[in-house]
Amino acid sequence: MKELNNKVAAITGAASGIGQMLAVNLAAKGCELAISDVDMKGLQETAEMVEKQNGKVSIHALDVAQRDQVESYAAAVVKKHGRVDMVINNAGVAVAQSIDDVGYEDFEWLFNINFWGVVYGAKAFLPYLKQQSEGHIVNISSVNGFITWPNNGPYCAAKFAVKGFSETLWQELRKTNVRVSCVHPGGIKTNIVRNARFYSSPGNKLTQDQSVKIFDKMANTSADQAASIIISGILKNKRRILVGPDAYVLDVLTRLFPVGFVRFAAAVAGRK
Ligand SMILES: NC(=O)c1ccc[n+]([C@@H]2O[C@H](COP(=O)([O-])OP(=O)(O)OC[C@H]3O[C@@H](n4cnc5c(N)ncnc54)[C@H](O)[C@@H]3O)[C@@H](O)[C@H]2O)c1
Repeated sequence: MKELNNKVAAITGAASGIGQMLAVNLAAKGCELAISDVDMKGLQETAEMVEKQNGKVSIHALDVAQRDQVESYAAAVVKKHGRVDMVINNAGVAVAQSIDDVGYEDFEWLFNINFWGVVYGAKAFLPYLKQQSEGHIVNISSVNGFITWPNNGPYCAAKFAVKGFSETLWQELRKTNVRVSCVHPGGIKTNIVRNARFYSSPGNKLTQDQSVKIFDKMANTSADQAASIIISGILKNKRRILVGPDAYVLDVLTRLFPVGFVRFAAAVAGRK
């Protein structure tokens, strides 16, 4: 998307973290926002932040795991704003547990949000995006869309799936007016670990508090910086957007050592 002024952007998971800062930064560039989340209190705070910059914003209660709700959201955005130019499928959650120990309920909860939520968002908005001179689908994956980490199996599997889905969609839409970007953030200082479903088990000895502390220390990029990088990637129509220096380092390491990196990550995680 070459120009953001007067465009309408729909963002899922906009009550916190990266989604909230995307809303604020896109409003600063002249976008109208249609923001959604399950957390209505946080969403209201985001709306107030957008309005402080004189941005136009509508708020929508949405559970991205519910296909009918996502379809109604897309229709409601067009009804309210008259059009939609971009959807950012950002809502996401984490589960910390080994694949052996994790229950299907938690595995499916994560997949329904992190993978199916992205699929529903892309497919529900695509017919409307095709009606614009330029449309854009932005899917938030992770560095865990190309590297794996123990006790994070459901998250890694869903984020790899988002990458595969997004790249295929890019191939299929490349001759249309709709661009597709897949975003791979490194560690971004947000509430993702605090909000995770977290279990200590023989395979995962850290407590949630310990993990939050480690994450806050290691996540060197703020949500605001992440939003700026993502927006600059969108404006360049980048197919793949890496966010943060750690994402670039991990990208190089996995290209240089595609086999060895898997063993290395297991050894590092085993020391914690
Ligand atoms: N923070 C990081 O280090 C990091 C790294 C890579 C990728 N990501 C991805 O970035 C995205 C944003 O995460 P964040 O770090 O800002 O976390 P966050 O926890 O601060 O924000 C996630 C938002 O998603 C919302 N959400 C959760 N379940 C939902 C549902 N069913 N329907 C609608 N909204 C729902 C939450 O209420 C919250 O507002 C996620 O997809 C996450 O996986 C984050």
